[in-house]
Amino acid sequence: MGVTEGDDFDPALMDEVFESYERQKGALIPVLQKAQHIYGYLPPEVLQLIADQLGLSLSRVYGVATFYAQFYLERRGKHILKLCDGTACHVKGTPLLLTAVEDGFEIQPGETTKDGELTAEVVYCLGSCAMAPVAVLDEQVMGRMRPEMLVRQVKKHMASSRKETEA
Ligand code: FES
Repeated sequence: MGVTEGDDFDPALMDEVFESYERQKGALIPVLQKAQHIYGYLPPEVLQLIADQLGLSLSRVYGVATFYAQFYLERRGKHILKLCDGTACHVKGTPLLLTAVEDGFEIQPGETTKDGELTAEVVYCLGSCAMAPVAVLDEQVMGRMRPEMLVRQVKKHMASSRKETEA
């Protein structure tokens, strides 16, 4: 679902989640997962709301949210491009892919385009070194990537998903 547009934060979207986890032990992680699914990421207001509702300290909630890589405290794009910069991929050209992304979309790793469409991230070894350099666009693994090909693929993917949403 993902309510990532604008800065309005609607706490009511979490009502059902809190109801279904009421008085359950160990609810923090599933509640954080649901919240991220709803809001797209975990802004401070959401962490505070979760702390209040579950009767936990904000530092405990914050500690768990920052410990697990699955949680995002910053807004992320609609599409996620991961570039592997493990040794094999680095040697085979990831630095050139990073430059291509920077030139093509004006973002550095960890950043999201202004229109909220694309977030670029660097990861370290995806276990597909034979296909180096490897990029993953949303769930799609793309091996032996070349800079121009990468930019083209990303643009194509974003355009076709826009078309799907408009249809
Ligand atoms: S180093 Fe990139 S997949 Fe292993």
